Amino acid sequence: MDKFAIPFNKACFEGKELVYIAKAISNGLISGDGQFTQQCHAFFEEQLGVAKAFLTTSCTDALEMAAVLLDIKAGDEVIVPSFTFVSTANAFTLHKAKPVFIDIRADTLNMDESQLEGLITPRTRAILPVHYAGVGCEMDAILEIAGCHDIPVVEDNAHGLFGKYKGKFLGTFGCMAAQSFHETKNFTCGEGGALLINDPQYIERAEIIREKGTNRSRFFRGQVDKYTWVDVGSSYLPSDMLAGFLYAQLEARNHIQEHRRRIWEYYYTHLKDWAKKHGVKLPTIPKHCEQPYHMFYMIMPSYEDRQALIAHLKSRSILAVFHYLPLHLSDMGIRLGGKESNCPVTEDISDRLIRLPFYNDLTEPEQESIVEGIFNFYSS
Ligand SMILES: Cc1ncc(COP(=O)(O)O)c(C=O)c1O
Repeated sequence: MDKFAIPFNKACFEGKELVYIAKAISNGLISGDGQFTQQCHAFFEEQLGVAKAFLTTSCTDALEMAAVLLDIKAGDEVIVPSFTFVSTANAFTLHKAKPVFIDIRADTLNMDESQLEGLITPRTRAILPVHYAGVGCEMDAILEIAGCHDIPVVEDNAHGLFGKYKGKFLGTFGCMAAQSFHETKNFTCGEGGALLINDPQYIERAEIIREKGTNRSRFFRGQVDKYTWVDVGSSYLPSDMLAGFLYAQLEARNHIQEHRRRIWEYYYTHLKDWAKKHGVKLPTIPKHCEQPYHMFYMIMPSYEDRQALIAHLKSRSILAVFHYLPLHLSDMGIRLGGKESNCPVTEDISDRLIRLPFYNDLTEPEQESIVEGIFNFYSS
């Protein structure tokens, strides 16, 4: 892989990660659900106010757990944006459900709630809003429509930890929400995730599904005298060493978020005049949304400009990247019936969006040279 002077993403450490990993080892419990896993669970439950949090090995796994919890099966339909990571849809397709792709709004790049009602059928079993870049979807409208049809809402909150919609944390609106702690996220343990549960009816079964379909957690709490196979499930819990790594990052929440805010605002303030002059669109953050500063993107006037800017920055050893290719036009999406023009906004945005380097340790001199490289683009 090419090495860039300024990479797109970099794993960043807050200081206590190795200390907590060593502690997990000295505790003698390095499989799942040890001290640090419990501390992470308590952190999410207290800070976000969710009924229950379960660490998982990825956001993908948290979404797969949600699909099992909702008893998704062949013939079911789930409404997902086409502009998302493959896991949002795949977790449900794995259980033979059909993804029904919804287009996005051109401003926030989130699910276009005005199209939701028209996509609901008697077979719809779940709605999956993805809070793109951690900016909240229009949850009032989405929950109202879902409520009228009694359809569960599962938030894909991979980008949105600590983001808020109308003053309430993202991840607390649906019956469940999936978080990611992949290396590219604000808080990481390399690979990791969490299933947040807001509707208590799912808690008991989630614990079983996460533990290979057994009641082992009840056994460890002394609630049964042996454990056995009681339901379907899989192995979704991470090692306590990873939880220790993650906990060190969560403890540094204020530091991480403050730094990311400064990075985002530097880009925004330095690029806004240039963007206006060249017909480039910067992110829209509605007044009722608080973003967690997960990423900074720009929407270029054309596909050609986007590709040329990526190449231009690459020539300066700066890695900027595109984001999601429309899922309905992927090989799998086409096999599932996706056709060009099904989601025109998604198709257009996907061609024009560029993400700039963004990681906790990004320095101001690095940002200066990125911005300088961008200024140079139309004049070079
Ligand atoms: C919206 C969204 N959902 C889910 C995922 C999958 O996350 P993970 O890598 O933790 O499985 C990603 C990955 O970046 C994502 O962007």
